Amino acid sequence: MITVDNQQLSGLLEQMTLEEKIAQMLQLVASYFVGSEDDGQITGPMESLGITEETVNQAGSILGLGGAAKVIQVQQDHLKNDRLGIPMIFMADIVHGYKTIFPIPLAIGCSWDQELAEQSAAIAAKESAVSGLHVTFAPMVDLVRDPRWGRVMESTGEDPYLNSLFARAFVRGFQGEDLTNDVSRVAACVKHFAAYGAGEGGREYNTVDLSERQLREYYLPAYKAALDEGCELVMTSFNTVHGSPATGNRTLMRDLLRAELGFDGVLISDWGAVIELIAHGVAEDESAAAYLAVQAGVDIEMMTSCYVKHLPELVRSGKVEESLIDEAVLRILNLKNKLGLFDNPLRGADPEAERAIVFCDEHRSVSRELASQSCVLLKNTGVLPLQAEQRIALIGPFAQSKDILGSWSWMGAEEDIMTLDTAIQAKAKITSSNVLVAEGSGIDSITETQWKEALDVARQADVIVLAVGESSHMSGEGGSRADIRLPEAQLQLMDHLRTLDKPIVTVVFNGRPLDLQGIHDQADAVLEAWFPGSEGATAITDILYGEVNPSGRLSMSFPHAVGQVPVYYNHFNTGRPQKESEPDNRYSSKYLDIPNEPLFPFGYGLSYTEFKYGEIALSAEGITTDRPLQVTTTITNTGDTAGVEVVQLYIRDITGEVVRPMKELKAFSKVLLQPGESKEVSFTVTEEQLRYHHSDLSYTSDTGEFAVFVGANSRDVSERRFRLLK
Ligand code: BGC
Repeated sequence: MITVDNQQLSGLLEQMTLEEKIAQMLQLVASYFVGSEDDGQITGPMESLGITEETVNQAGSILGLGGAAKVIQVQQDHLKNDRLGIPMIFMADIVHGYKTIFPIPLAIGCSWDQELAEQSAAIAAKESAVSGLHVTFAPMVDLVRDPRWGRVMESTGEDPYLNSLFARAFVRGFQGEDLTNDVSRVAACVKHFAAYGAGEGGREYNTVDLSERQLREYYLPAYKAALDEGCELVMTSFNTVHGSPATGNRTLMRDLLRAELGFDGVLISDWGAVIELIAHGVAEDESAAAYLAVQAGVDIEMMTSCYVKHLPELVRSGKVEESLIDEAVLRILNLKNKLGLFDNPLRGADPEAERAIVFCDEHRSVSRELASQSCVLLKNTGVLPLQAEQRIALIGPFAQSKDILGSWSWMGAEEDIMTLDTAIQAKAKITSSNVLVAEGSGIDSITETQWKEALDVARQADVIVLAVGESSHMSGEGGSRADIRLPEAQLQLMDHLRTLDKPIVTVVFNGRPLDLQGIHDQADAVLEAWFPGSEGATAITDILYGEVNPSGRLSMSFPHAVGQVPVYYNHFNTGRPQKESEPDNRYSSKYLDIPNEPLFPFGYGLSYTEFKYGEIALSAEGITTDRPLQVTTTITNTGDTAGVEVVQLYIRDITGEVVRPMKELKAFSKVLLQPGESKEVSFTVTEEQLRYHHSDLSYTSDTGEFAVFVGANSRDVSERRFRLLK
């Protein structure tokens, strides 16, 4: 595609009136353009904007409209009305797939597989681009430690290093290498800047108050990784950072994001986040809100009209320099140019190709592969995998549910979804086992008829497969929960089934780590399926019947009880750590009623085979800036099934200038081992990996002693020590 040069863009800017420029900074949802209230995707409150048709006609971008024919029509209508013929950018939340829905990002995190993650983003981009979209509001890379927050499902988890790898993989997948000429890619928008995941109490949209060190050490790395990978846009977050709402926070946006991190792309507000500066209590009216946001460097205001209504006056009265507007508009025009929209405003939109590409078999098979890599086997007393000749009672609200895509799967269609019972029945035909199905309970209600029918069905079976979980509305945006157990009705169903002397395999569908009390202690096996996406039912069936050996590993800890939250593996020690030798010492840091440790730690997941770890060998006792350390161990598959182990390496700085985490993931390797096979796994630890933010925020390492841990998860590791010398 042909792009114009900077001079031409500046020339265009010069031709624009102030109102036309400011209209570029407005983003509206589809219903403003195609006339129907519920057309497109609505993800926030719809306030009355009080804007004229003329402003709508000049708006710079549109949110949540997909489908090549519709996009072409809206773009062409827009070009007829826009005096200078500036095309609109079409943006939407393509978070884990367009129509081919992949597992939710938290599940993708559990695959520890960046290549598949990248492939999923490339497919999402391809389906979106052919359907007319130019920008996706993804990846969401907020670090998450509080499973009460419904949006943990959109993140890849609690670890800054793993999140950074996935952030990069997603950006590469969405944007490819040449956004201008590869029209099957879309620009990525990393969100939500910054630290949206740290809301107090896990309550949606709540206050965030972090120390600068916490922010830099844990929360910033994944945003930075996305930017280093060339991510074109950034979205502001709803929360406060250091006492100021992010969307009007000059220090955060101008000093940190732009000056320090070097971001010069488009900064877009989250939905309504500009007007919300009033409710936050830092702006007294819309004009003040517009002032704060524009000063902070927010280029596009999403879904409120503070900019279009007030910036003209603010500029004319001299309160806001016109150069600030020009700067923002140039960034927007620049993005349009980079996307090739001045050359071809329809870009990849192609109704015919759309029919062939969207939800094609090739894309669905990648979704199935990723789903099978994302499920995590949490418990197995030996009942899994199921045997072909066993009679199965498939029970539970998710036995026949199509609600398995998870939040943010806007274009995913129920009619495309295979339910777990259909997938298992299809398998049963091949394996000649009997499958009986009963609902047993709803998500949060149970009747006597339901549980009695479930018991009747279960009595006839050798094994019960109990499919339980949260509905997709119980997580995602606005999906905070204070009690993260399964709804009572489903716990009761489990209790009824437990009265029979039958093995129970529980498959859990959900968008957050749950408190699994009442499930994991009652079941003989627990498979965490998350919201597994379009091909989830088949992927789960593959695992249940042993055609796929599970290899997912948790990227977020599962709490023992909600009272422990936030509970995460890379925590600090205290001055009075609980000692194994004195577990009951009252004056140690602990709870009286529950353990300190999570129920299932970060990195945890079982396989149908067993892996044995050899001793850790170090290439030297000391490491210097020029001489890294080789850490080597041998992993053996001691079982009789081929399997993939995720070998994990953690580091602890024994004495820091400030407190250092008990463990930090620094490297991992996914290794496929045949039965009886051994492989040597070697990692390189460099001085750079030992750096951290000191009290003066300098990012350096300390000489002294370090522990290196290698193992199957953040808890089950062996340890060696080495020294950093300088
Ligand atoms: C969400 C964003 C999303 C936006 C646009 C907001 O409510 O917080 O993540 O990108 O809506 O749909």
